[in-house]
Amino acid sequence: MDVTFTPLSEHTGIAVEGVDLSKPVPDALVKEMYQAYLDRSVLVVRGQKLDPHQMLAAAKLFGAPFIQHNTRFQLPECPEIHYLSNQDKFPDGRRYIPGEGFHTDHSNDATPPKATLLHAVTLPSSGGDTQFINMGLAYETLDEATRAQIEGVQAEHVYQASHSERKLVGLKAQRKQQVQQSVIHPLVRTHGETGRKALYINPIRIERLLDMPDTDALPLLKRLLAHATQGTHEYRHQWSTGDFVMWDNRNLLHKANGDYDMTETRYLYRLMLQGERPE
Ligand code: SIN
Repeated sequence: MDVTFTPLSEHTGIAVEGVDLSKPVPDALVKEMYQAYLDRSVLVVRGQKLDPHQMLAAAKLFGAPFIQHNTRFQLPECPEIHYLSNQDKFPDGRRYIPGEGFHTDHSNDATPPKATLLHAVTLPSSGGDTQFINMGLAYETLDEATRAQIEGVQAEHVYQASHSERKLVGLKAQRKQQVQQSVIHPLVRTHGETGRKALYINPIRIERLLDMPDTDALPLLKRLLAHATQGTHEYRHQWSTGDFVMWDNRNLLHKANGDYDMTETRYLYRLMLQGERPE
């Protein structure tokens, strides 16, 4: 079968068909897929059937694995791979939907992951889409006054921001000591590979903006998020079983949706790839 690349929206997302990631993939095709990921921020390789070790090998075609901060969701048989499941609960018994609320992954790390990869193993019969916001586009469509206002502004990112509406599952005690408590990143970052500027905000992790009182910083962050998520910068991914999706955390916010029948299982494998320090 020939390999085809099909854009999934005007600005974000591209689907690849005709590739089997459980088999050796020619270098030229890996390069072509990686370039498509850089250009379109979300690469969807359709129709895969990978066990955790095959998922790990496929991910390594595109970069080095990043060790996730929270170790609770590791697969015992292949700890680099974590799982996402709607069947997990918070300690108080409430259902935990991983990834609800717009965010970018692990921005509380000094060198956050460049990419996150998911492989859809079991899906509900409808719903459970992932929304992606193209933050390069969101930056480019800001008015000039706002762009000038945020030029050079730095943000403090923590594991769980005190203002965040979304609560995370806590880290195990040992991991708490290993994971850096706070890092500073620019509010506008320049992509290390494409050179494109993007808004770098994260509602669950930004604790404060440096040299700005919260009374100014929180409304500014709210306004930036509202601008970014107004709809025109979005690609909404409707999952199919077997999708292998790699997205670019340097140019995207994303959000899971727990809008489906919870008696049905949604289960995906997850892995992130090492990135560069945001600049
Ligand atoms: C995530 O935030 O990594 C999860 C996205 C999803 O489950 O749709």
